[in-house]
Amino acid sequence: MTSVTNKPLLITCGLPYANGPCHIGHLRTYVPADIYVRCLKKLGQNPLFVCGSDTHGTPIVINAEQQGTTPEKLSTYYHRYWEDLFKALAVDFSHYGNTDAPTNHFRTQEIVKALQENGYIYPLVIRLAYCPECDRFLPDRYVEGVCFFCGMPARGDECDQGCGRHLESGEIVDPKCKTCGASAEYREEEHFFFKLSAFKDFLSTYLETLGGTANARNYAQQWVTNELKDWNISRNLSWGVPFPGTDLVVYVWVDAPIGYISFTEEATSTWEDYWKNESTIIHFIGGDIIYHHAVFWPALLKGANYTRPAAIVASGMVKVDNETFSKSRGNVVWVDDDYLDHGFHSDLLRYYLACYTSHTKELNFSWKVFGEKVNHELVGSLGNFIYRTLLFAYKNFGYIPDTPVDAAITQEIAATREKMVNALEEYEFKKFVDAAMSLSDFGNVYFQSKALWNLVKSDKEACAREVKNCIQLVKALAVLLEPVMPSTMKGVQAQLGETSTQFSDATVEVEPLRLNQPDLPFAKIDEKKIVELEATLSKRMAGLVQKTPANEVRTKIATIELEDFKKMDLRTARILDAESVKKSDKLLRITLQLGDETRQVVAGIAKDYRAEALIGTDVIVLANVTPVKLMGVESHGMLLAAEHEGRAVLIRPSQKVPSGTKIK
Ligand code: MSP
Ligand code: ZN
Repeated sequence: MTSVTNKPLLITCGLPYANGPCHIGHLRTYVPADIYVRCLKKLGQNPLFVCGSDTHGTPIVINAEQQGTTPEKLSTYYHRYWEDLFKALAVDFSHYGNTDAPTNHFRTQEIVKALQENGYIYPLVIRLAYCPECDRFLPDRYVEGVCFFCGMPARGDECDQGCGRHLESGEIVDPKCKTCGASAEYREEEHFFFKLSAFKDFLSTYLETLGGTANARNYAQQWVTNELKDWNISRNLSWGVPFPGTDLVVYVWVDAPIGYISFTEEATSTWEDYWKNESTIIHFIGGDIIYHHAVFWPALLKGANYTRPAAIVASGMVKVDNETFSKSRGNVVWVDDDYLDHGFHSDLLRYYLACYTSHTKELNFSWKVFGEKVNHELVGSLGNFIYRTLLFAYKNFGYIPDTPVDAAITQEIAATREKMVNALEEYEFKKFVDAAMSLSDFGNVYFQSKALWNLVKSDKEACAREVKNCIQLVKALAVLLEPVMPSTMKGVQAQLGETSTQFSDATVEVEPLRLNQPDLPFAKIDEKKIVELEATLSKRMAGLVQKTPANEVRTKIATIELEDFKKMDLRTARILDAESVKKSDKLLRITLQLGDETRQVVAGIAKDYRAEALIGTDVIVLANVTPVKLMGVESHGMLLAAEHEGRAVLIRPSQKVPSGTKIK
């Protein structure tokens, strides 16, 4: 897709379940897709990039029940959570929707009706697990037992610990109710099946020309040749899209991909150009959901007369410390708790995910490798070249020299750019980054070989030309790597007075400009920090640390007793002093007057408030919260703030009251 197309171009990402927080595995879908979209834009394309929360399905209903809330409240909470998270990671969707929105209810029912009219849905009375204790049918994850095919423990609709099969009702042996543990029995109920088996010929031909990665194509082809079973697409649940003309709801794996269509509808009035006419639709997903995207989904679209995806890009799965991800075993790295909350820049993780290995291979995450990659590659090579060039130019010239760039340098850049564009064509993000990193190595060698520190003394004019060459390389790197590390690379461009829009800008000569003292693009990560993070992971695996947001949700949406509220020591306080915390762009260290006591708190409001502007103002503090250390600074209290459009808005008393006044 890297040559400009006039066809409407749509990129989507596998929808996150609005049921829990983001772990590093999820990002292997979102980060490469975002890089790809940013690249397409820099190649003159105009892609639409949609995603949204997958809000239906039994896991959400079960979690909500366990947390004493409703599926609607739980999924709304996580919908916002994911929206914020994508902002924090610079994953920049054109539109981020929600599968429980009316648009998606409408589109799902329309498609189900179309499939019915076209003869692809038939009713069938089936035996379904039923819990006599809870007095209800047990769809999907409500039932646990043993896989009929391989004998491994299985739950609901898939054998996730054994053979990986999608399981239909009745294929779980020795079923138990997940909620109460009672032995379930099988009872009969009428359900609705999608005639997937009727699409065998269509799928065989379709898969031959399907673009994207070979793993998606090959895996799907195997299933199509061996075993295509019809799918029950109705469920006995009250949460979901009502199945037309019944008391059932539509199976989540129907209304979730239809989200791709309804989010396009929400994004643009020309949505039919994408879904009813010739277009280029590219789905980015993880290797775990290929069957749903490359077999089930194209058949569904074909059956209802919608445009099929042109390409499916399936990543390899992410592991942690070379072990398979497992949330229950604690073998997981949470993106907020374990990464962002430690003050790491999202660009570093984006870099790691893009260049660890080939996109279709397994990716291992380890803090040790993360530390090495940041310190050796980003700080040691790329950052070093950018910084030493800009510092040398600033100190010795004070401006970008007004001399032509050597043809050899321009050629080196153009050749790199070509390698990068070719890598995109194959969805090989590692090759993409590696080509740029070779250009950075070339820059370091060039700088070194020209011995600029001598040349500046012997021949200042010749030195100016070499400095210009190096600055052009800096610009090229910043332009070409911007899709991978958008904020850092835009920062480098800004130091050169540039804002690039196209990859072709890489060879456009930098304009002469007065230079300022340069900034270090990347900071080294302390070995101690890595050891600390490794220790957190080990503790989590030993069951000693829990994820925070899940508990937060519980208190946020469940009712609490007045007694619980009274446990909070909320008081007014006056800010005596405020300053930013070193190496953090989020945190302020704040000294408070709290009655006759002074207190130090650390607040994550540096992006929304200037330190000086806070001094002398009144705030509300939760005084008896357990003290914590943030970026090594002790925080003994928490300021209350409203969260509005991703910003913190401090809560203040509406008139002056003495500091330390109790709030009831
Ligand atoms: N809701 C479904 C997708 C519906 S698409 C119509 C889902 N959600 S998910 O939250 O489990 O995953 C979201 C994305 O992250 C998917 O693309 C999935 O493949 C990917 N990954 C989730 N865990 C992963 C790893 N451990 N490794 C790599 N990618 C994985 O699936
Ligand atoms: Zn099995």
